[in-house]
Parts: sequence; C-alpha cells; structure tokens
Amino acid sequence: MADTVSEQATAATASTPAPTPATPAPEKAPGNVKEGSSTAEQGGVEGSGKECEGAIGGARRDPDIKKELGESDEEDEGEEDDEDYDYDEEEEDDDDEDQEGFMSMLQNFLMSRLHIGSHPDVPQVLESVSVEGMVQYLKSGQVKNVITMAGAGISTSAGIPDFRTPGTGLYSNLEKYKLPYPEAIFDIEYFKTNPKPFFVLARELYPGTFNPTPSHLFIKLLHDKGLLLRHYTQNIDTLEHVAGIPGDKLVEAHGTFRTSHCLTCHKEYTQEWMKEEIFQDKIPKCTGEECNGLVKPDIVFFRESLPLRFFQMTQVDFPKCDLLIILGTSLTVQPFAMLVDNVPATCPRLLVNREKAGSIDPMVALLQGMANPGGLTLDSPHNKRDVVLLGECDEGCAKLADMLGWKEDFEKLLPASK
Ligand code: OAD
Ligand code: ZN
Repeated sequence: MADTVSEQATAATASTPAPTPATPAPEKAPGNVKEGSSTAEQGGVEGSGKECEGAIGGARRDPDIKKELGESDEEDEGEEDDEDYDYDEEEEDDDDEDQEGFMSMLQNFLMSRLHIGSHPDVPQVLESVSVEGMVQYLKSGQVKNVITMAGAGISTSAGIPDFRTPGTGLYSNLEKYKLPYPEAIFDIEYFKTNPKPFFVLARELYPGTFNPTPSHLFIKLLHDKGLLLRHYTQNIDTLEHVAGIPGDKLVEAHGTFRTSHCLTCHKEYTQEWMKEEIFQDKIPKCTGEECNGLVKPDIVFFRESLPLRFFQMTQVDFPKCDLLIILGTSLTVQPFAMLVDNVPATCPRLLVNREKAGSIDPMVALLQGMANPGGLTLDSPHNKRDVVLLGECDEGCAKLADMLGWKEDFEKLLPASK
C-alpha cells in the first residue's frame, strides 16, 4: 500500500499495490478529475445483477438489453419508419441516447465476457443486492464488524465545503489564493515555499466551530448498537469526536488539527497554541532554540505519509469486516480509496453518496488490460455485493435508521447535531 497520499485519476488504480505518489497537476483540477464511477446508466438505489447477452456487433439489440435500457420494440420500428426524415434536434438527442445505450451495452458485454469487476466463484451474502438486502443482512444478526469510511460529504450539511463538487467545493473557490493549481493548498512542497494560503484557509475553516451532522450521528448509532468495528475518516474537522465516537473507534487517515509539529526540529505544539497563531494571522514559527522552523498542524498533505495508525489498523480491521459503509466521498484520493478492496471478497459494500463513486469504468479497465481492476462493482453484471444509496448522506442515514427500526434511537441522538 502506498504510504503517501496521492490523487488518482480513477478508482481503477485502487488495486495497484503501490501507486506512485502523484503531484496533483493543474489538469486534475476539480471537475476534470476523472472519477471512478462507471458510465453505465442504471440510476436508482441498487446495483445491477443482470446479464447482457450477445448483442455486440449487430445494429439490433437483444430484447433483454432493450428492457434494461427502458426501450420497446415499437420504438425500434418507429426508427426504421423514420429513416428518411430530416435530422432535427430531437433525433440528434435520440442518436446520443442510442449511442450511450450502445456504449453501455458494449460495456456490459465486455464486463460479462471478460469477467471484469466480478468474482465468479464467490458466494453472494446478500439475499438481494439492494438497500433492502443490506438492511435485511444487518438485521439478520450476521453482521458483527461494520467499518465505515467517510469523506467531506458527511460534513457539508454542517456548513463545511467538500473538495470536488463543482461550484461549491473548496477546489473551485480558491482563486483569491492565486495558487498554481487548487490542490497546492494541501501540497507539502508548496506549503514550505508559501504557507500563507493554507493558514488563511485554516482560519476560515477552523475545527470547533461546526456541529456534527445526522450522518456523524448515524455512525455513532452503529457504535451504540455494538456494530461499529472502526470508522475511517479522511476529514480533519473533528466532528466524529464531537459526535461522541470514541477515539479508539476512529482512524483519522488524513491526520488531525489536535497537534502540530515543527517541520525542522519536530517539536510538538498544542491545538491551543496553533489556534492562537492562526487567529492572529501569523505564520506559525518554531519557538525552539535557534530553530524558527515552520510549524504545521498534523494533517496529512499531498506527498506526506499517512499516520502509522492508518496502516496498522487497516491490516487488523479490514479482513474482519462483514459490512463496509462508505459515506460522502469521491474515493479519488489514495491510499484511502483502495481500502474498499481490502475487505473480504464476499463482504457487502454500501455507498451512501450524491453520486456513484469508486467504480472502475469497464472501458478503462479493458484498455489498461486489467482483469480485476478493483473498486466497487456497482455497474458490473456480476455484482453480488455493492449497493449505492444515492442522495444526501443525512437523508440516506435517516432512511437506513428507519428501515433498521432504529428511528427512535436515531432521533434521540439528533438534537446534538443542531
Ligand atoms: P470530495 O470533495 O472529493 O468528494 C465528496 C463527495 O461527497 C462527492 O462525491 C460529493 O458528491 C459527495 N457529497 C458532498 N456533499 C454530500 C452530501 N451532503 N450528501 C451526500 N454526498 C455528498 O471529498 P473527499 O472524498 O473527502 O485530502 O476528498 C478526499 C480528500 O481529497 C480529502 O481528504 C482531502 C482532499 O484533497 C487531502 O487534502 C490530503
Ligand atoms: Zn523547530
């Protein structure tokens, strides 16, 4: 596993044993970062388990595939009748849809034939690969070790921006800092030459001024129910602590603001000391004798190592995991994103997010010659264990609590988030 943090173009690389630490490049700016979600348009809340048979190469589509794409025979006949009509805009749209449909069909075919994103011999644990199936599995008593993995999306309803949502994400709103590229604000080499932008931002988003969200409290509820093995977070806003999740249940993969260190002599500083420096608009400098080194909160920057605890705990926890719940993350930053591949091959994985994330585009996998590219298999025809609950995390968590029969317990926790 890579020991420095890096941004990866797709979740495909999640299965690469040692991804090279990447310097975030300007072309990887928000919106351009190629995420791992598949192009197959399935929508809804659940992964697909349908097989796609032999439609490749012919202009006509297999009836099963048509059904999956929501098309009817009449539509096809209509297309034939309309052959000589002028090409107006509507028809162009139809053409685009046709093309998308064909690409999706082609992808399914390739995934099916080449067993991309599938584990053909692995038994299915879920009775149905759906949110209902996940809930049923949780209720069955078989689940003892839930791991939750989270990103900035669980904190946006608290008023903290995420990173990559176009328009509102942090990386879309850094013009005033005149950075060479947005991720530079968290790049250790850039920080050493120009720490000011980071400290200005740190003042704006200083932890301690926000409240936990219902999503944090749902994770706390999993702990209260005795089901939470560990919560892995990329967030540095400390809201998991505020929500009452005990420190030993947390792995702060991208570090913490609670301590700081001098980059030169490694002298440690407290959160109070750092807070005072930040709120006095100072660039924190080491007070050690003749040092004057730059002091940085212990959050993980690009090209820095993750905390030792991350590597120690992942090795112990992930083999034991019997349900992985991933919330509010684009799964684009390594090595965190590749953790989804560290659970046992049968382990169900539930993604609660505004959009699909962490899946490999089957075409990319094919082009890169990857038989088993890793990542979530949400759109694979062989998907036996991955489900996405699309929408707001808070709503997804409330829905899960409701379906699990935990509504009352969940609501008891909620006032703490207001
Ligand atoms: P991103 O901004 O990359 O992704 C956040 C994800 O959450 C996106 O898929 C959003 O659509 C989704 N999202 C946002 N708000 C949501 C909501 N209310 N409900 C549901 N989904 C929501 O943030 P991360 O994945 O956390 O690292 O980013 C990972 C790392 O990249 C960060 O830890 C940070 C950053 O660079 C470092 O700086 C080292
Ligand atoms: Zn020092």
